[in-house]
Amino acid sequence: MTLKAYRTHFYKELEAFYPQEEYETFFKVLAQEYLKLAAYEIPLNFQLELDEAQRNLFDKALSRLQQNEPLQYIVASTEFYGFPFQLSPAVLIPRPETEELVDWIYTDFKNTSCTILDIGTGSGAIAVSLAKLLPEAKVTAIDVSEDALKIAEANASSNAVNVQFIKQDILDCQALDRSYDVIVSNPPYVRDLEKVEIKANVLNYEPHLALFVEDQNALIFYKKIAELAIQALQPNGILYFEINQYLSVETVGLLKNIGFSQVELRDDFAGKPRMIKAQH
Ligand SMILES: C[S@@+](CC[C@H](N)C(=O)[O-])C[C@H]1O[C@@H](n2cnc3c(N)ncnc32)[C@H](O)[C@@H]1O
Repeated sequence: MTLKAYRTHFYKELEAFYPQEEYETFFKVLAQEYLKLAAYEIPLNFQLELDEAQRNLFDKALSRLQQNEPLQYIVASTEFYGFPFQLSPAVLIPRPETEELVDWIYTDFKNTSCTILDIGTGSGAIAVSLAKLLPEAKVTAIDVSEDALKIAEANASSNAVNVQFIKQDILDCQALDRSYDVIVSNPPYVRDLEKVEIKANVLNYEPHLALFVEDQNALIFYKKIAELAIQALQPNGILYFEINQYLSVETVGLLKNIGFSQVELRDDFAGKPRMIKAQH
């Protein structure tokens, strides 16, 4: 079968599952990945006959897409802030709103030699991007998941940056071992009650350890991290959080109670309150 004929088959098989724009993108990404083509070379290769191995790769990806598996897990990679990141099912797929949080920190600390701690690093998206963007910074990153830390370490190495990774359950931590200019976290914040809003591709494939908190204790990570941060931040240090859009008022209140006097809430590109910057 030629690549062009396969594309027709691929589109037809996914029509019932995804909008056209999405399955067209899937095909492009897979053709780039499996045939080692640049995007502009795909139409130039429409008459290429797919061999059995190539056909198998596409067929497997097609069936995984039909089962709602995110494309990023199928190709085991994504881009975050323009940098390449390896992924595995042990790590969350980094989101565009998290890029906005990174951008906020980059704007505030450009051209400085600061110390940064990323709590709940997952793929290392925040820590590795900040280490790339702020070459003078010393970056440390914590996660409780050994498997996530392996991926984060691989991402630091493939992006040629130094990040110190620490395996630690932050909820069990009594005090941070040193002080920092920046503490940043995108911790688990989706309440069990919000599961009904979560699409199958997230619910069935992304790590629940990275996503969910109990309804009764939804801000558990924010409280713990803010309490640790208020002790560990340098005098002009700043705490940055990605937050649950439905709990912005509660999160701001919590930070003020803990002793952060300046708390700034920011909307993401979709107009939802999703980021906080706090100083004491
Ligand atoms: C929402 S994900 C964020 C991942 C990444 N920082 C990002 O923004 O794409 C939360 C991360 O917190 C980690 N995590 C969950 N519970 C933790 C705990 N008790 N201590 C440390 N990290 C934890 C998870 O393994 C996951 O990698």
